Amino acid sequence: MNANLCTLCLGLSAVVYSTVSNDECREVESVDSPWHTTLGAVHQSSLTCRLCSLVMEGWSQSRAVQVEQASLQADFNIENPPPDLHLPVYEIPVYRYGARIKISIYSEPGLTWVDGGKKNQMGEWHLVFACNVEILSSFEVHDSLEAFLRVVRECDEDVAGGIRRNAICTPDALQIFPAAPGTKAEEYGGSIASVASSNPLSTQSITIAKRWLEHCVREHAETCHASGKPVGWIPTRLLEIIPGSTKTYLRERGSIEVDNNSENDHYVALSHCWGVRGTPFTTTRKTLPIHVNEGIDISELPQTFRDALILVAGLGLQYLWIDSLCILQDDFEDWANEAAQMADIYRHAYLVINAANSSGDTLGFLGEREAPDVVRLPAVPSSSTTSHLDLNLCLQLLPHANQWFSLGEGPDHLRKEPLSTRAWCLQERYLPVRALQYGTRQTFWECQSMRASEDGYLCVLRPEEQGGHVQRLVRTANFSRSVFARGEYREAHTEPDGMYNWFHWYQMVQDYTARDISKPTDRLPAIAGLARAIVREKGRGDAKLEWEMENEYMAGLWKSGLLEGLFWCKAAGGDSQKQQQLIPTEEYVAPSWSWASVLGAVHFPVYDWYRRSARWKAKMADFEPLAEYVSHTVESIAQDPFGGLAGGGLTVKAPLFSVRKVRSRQDRPPQSETLFGEPPRRSGVADKVYQLQDGKNNHIWVEGGMDTALTDDQEGKETELAVLFLFRLPFTLDHGFFDQRFGLLLKRLDDRCFKRVGFIDGVLLKEAGPYFFKRLKIVGYHQDMSFVSVDSLGLEKQEVTIC
Ligand SMILES: *[C@@H]1O[C@H](CO)[C@@H](O)[C@H](O)[C@H]1NC(C)=O
Ligand SMILES: *[C@@H]1O[C@H](CO)[C@@H](O)[C@H](O)[C@H]1NC(C)=O
Ligand SMILES: *[C@@H]1O[C@H](CO)[C@@H](O)[C@H](O)[C@H]1NC(C)=O
Ligand SMILES: [Zn+2]
Ligand SMILES: [Zn+2]
Repeated sequence: MNANLCTLCLGLSAVVYSTVSNDECREVESVDSPWHTTLGAVHQSSLTCRLCSLVMEGWSQSRAVQVEQASLQADFNIENPPPDLHLPVYEIPVYRYGARIKISIYSEPGLTWVDGGKKNQMGEWHLVFACNVEILSSFEVHDSLEAFLRVVRECDEDVAGGIRRNAICTPDALQIFPAAPGTKAEEYGGSIASVASSNPLSTQSITIAKRWLEHCVREHAETCHASGKPVGWIPTRLLEIIPGSTKTYLRERGSIEVDNNSENDHYVALSHCWGVRGTPFTTTRKTLPIHVNEGIDISELPQTFRDALILVAGLGLQYLWIDSLCILQDDFEDWANEAAQMADIYRHAYLVINAANSSGDTLGFLGEREAPDVVRLPAVPSSSTTSHLDLNLCLQLLPHANQWFSLGEGPDHLRKEPLSTRAWCLQERYLPVRALQYGTRQTFWECQSMRASEDGYLCVLRPEEQGGHVQRLVRTANFSRSVFARGEYREAHTEPDGMYNWFHWYQMVQDYTARDISKPTDRLPAIAGLARAIVREKGRGDAKLEWEMENEYMAGLWKSGLLEGLFWCKAAGGDSQKQQQLIPTEEYVAPSWSWASVLGAVHFPVYDWYRRSARWKAKMADFEPLAEYVSHTVESIAQDPFGGLAGGGLTVKAPLFSVRKVRSRQDRPPQSETLFGEPPRRSGVADKVYQLQDGKNNHIWVEGGMDTALTDDQEGKETELAVLFLFRLPFTLDHGFFDQRFGLLLKRLDDRCFKRVGFIDGVLLKEAGPYFFKRLKIVGYHQDMSFVSVDSLGLEKQEVTIC
């Protein structure tokens, strides 16, 4: 944090002080101060100057995001990427010499409606360092680079009047972060935000948390509540916090008076990681009477519980629910009873606290936090224009928007925290109506109308996006638009992202299956609460509809999204995510057609086709279903239809082919001999190619792979496999189409039943020339779109049961 600045940055510092001291919201203005003129010079200076180094870091991030986006949009050939793709920016000549540097300063206009997935930054001063490429290079991945820095002050607890945060331009937002009284900032709304306090229990931090809570309770009555919460409902047991006492008492439901007017049902629920060796302090049959009558010495509790108690008291609340203290840990019946209420406990809590940055209960979550990385600007001698700025200004690099606090299915501000690696904690994140989240560097707020972070981001959800995670899942639950809407020939890229039948549920499953779970048999129970909440929200009190929805749930899939949900495969390893192998479970968890039957991260590729905004997408037809639902059974262990299973079967009517031969997939993507055009992108996880014999006695090949690694014993019998086609996608070109197929690899178990062992994902291929091993070619169909329904394989559908 030392002000090691080069002379040019020192000059800039004076400009920042005088601009900010004018203290009003303003448009972008170019900064008229001499600064480095080439990226090469900034790089050189960054070795000693902190500000130059922050700017370089911002440019590098900006570049990384561009490269990622260009890859996603297929702006270049993935097989043959540009040579400078991953070079540091200062080694790429067009940036180093060919770019012009421009600095501008402006204040954000204030609260505006945000677009799904975007945050809103309010009333803050920003300094933007743009490195504009002047020479157009042949290759599109050389866009201008931008580093966004915001003007902040360090958290200053000693200032009279406590909190000095003032970040806002609108009256609505002023209620959440009031400007320091009597300043010009209050009058105009121009402002200087403060960084997050490194102490989560500081007055600043607690005051902000309280304001969020009060604001939500007062202003969000319409949106921030759960459907179907009975008046006065509370969990079976709660911890009572008595201000000033060294003890906390366990209270049983009957002993807490909840009438229509009391606030005793305002309990807080804690979401936390137990830690590898379990949680060190629990309530059992034996300790229950002690915890109720004599109380629990707070000093004996593990740090995470102590932190939670302090925080709840600090927020002025009285009751806290912690699973290991409020559920008897040695009593299966009590556990089963409470587990069935888990969804209600988190959904109906007044507030949920996520101890996100704690990987075990002994560690706590309110310790000293890492101070934000800021560059302090040297104070400028006080003049008439800057006199009321009796403060030290700093600059803080803003992470690129893509990596920041965002909504929906995009990158998540808690993604890297230990709590987000636990399977059980997913529904604890999704269910709450309002939650206070303690991350590595700061505190976040999430309710059904608003997201905020301690250092000044505030995002008010659009009316159509309100309702939090549960409503988001409900929005695509049995949704009218599906990937199977054949006939409506449409431009995929004009459609809203992800608004397809059950999209959000299966996205959630992807996140969920990437998390750790200690007991495989918990796979279905640990999201049972979320499934139940969806049924309840979707049903909105209509018992018949709820009953129908409940019957739709099939071992982690939904009947109205059956084909989407049957087509899962292992997730491809991205850069951050290691290639995961799926592992069969030892104990029975779910039928083989369910993603819950294997351990490891799964992926639902059917939705990808709409998300890739590659150029060919506009020409894509819809998926054509080939399999039809006939019937299914699921045997629940307990009475809970969402809980653990003892068995289950699914019968579909679909084309089924025996596999004749199996080969490894060839490395080079197959091409077409007859049709000109780029074939669809290959599956990232298929590694085999299977030969089938179609109804016309032709040999057809198609790519796919096994779900889990087979033992040697099983390896020899791969040709006992069969392929069941679930759906196809005619991938259209100008004068014809390729036939992309999606399906399951099955293995016969007995007369009645097949087991799912793998997946099929690829265009139909055929042998070309005598060396067919090496030369599989794509089968191209010379027909226009009106013929795509002509199926080349001679489909004979039959009833197939998978269990
Ligand atoms: C509480 O409110 C419910 C409905 O809101 C009502 O039916 C009930 O009689 C009330 N109870 C008391 C004790 O006022
Ligand atoms: C959480 O906190 C610890 C310190 O207790 C820190 O070392 C760690 O990096 C933090 N963040 C994550 C994502 O684990
Ligand atoms: C799903 O949607 C369809 C069409 O809107 C409707 O007919 C059906 O009843 C819905 N199913 C459930 C379980 O809500
Ligand atoms: Zn510098
Ligand atoms: Zn709210």
